[in-house]
Amino acid sequence: MNIPLYIVWNEENNLGIPIIDEQHRAIISTINTLHYFMRNKDGTMITASTITILNEYTKFHFITEEGIIKDWNYPEAEAHIKLHNELYIKTIDMASKLKIYNDTGELLQFLKNWWIRHICVEDKKYASFILRRSLPDTDADRDK
Ligand SMILES: [Fe+2]
Repeated sequence: MNIPLYIVWNEENNLGIPIIDEQHRAIISTINTLHYFMRNKDGTMITASTITILNEYTKFHFITEEGIIKDWNYPEAEAHIKLHNELYIKTIDMASKLKIYNDTGELLQFLKNWWIRHICVEDKKYASFILRRSLPDTDADRDK
């Protein structure tokens, strides 16, 4: 059966921080797996464990990312962490309602929109801050 991927990872979404890029790909991959099982009526049991895996993995990812932005003294760290907390609470809430309403489309659409926007807009901001600061000194700086 040839079901297209729900989200196709675009290499332009890479931030240039290898562990973060790797984890973002894993999150998108898990959302694609969730989509696959949700489309398959026999996948109800697996859907629940895929959501659990997504939530647990999201936790690891946020711990990684928040550690990095704090290490680099990213000025917007507090606001960024707030966005993570909001996503986490919202996903758990939507996943629990899923058991009652079985509205799989709404959860998938929310996850897709949230993650793509977060990676491409919010994460890009801290990545360019870090990458700018981690550049080797320019020749002009070295000559001083
Ligand atoms: Fe983030």
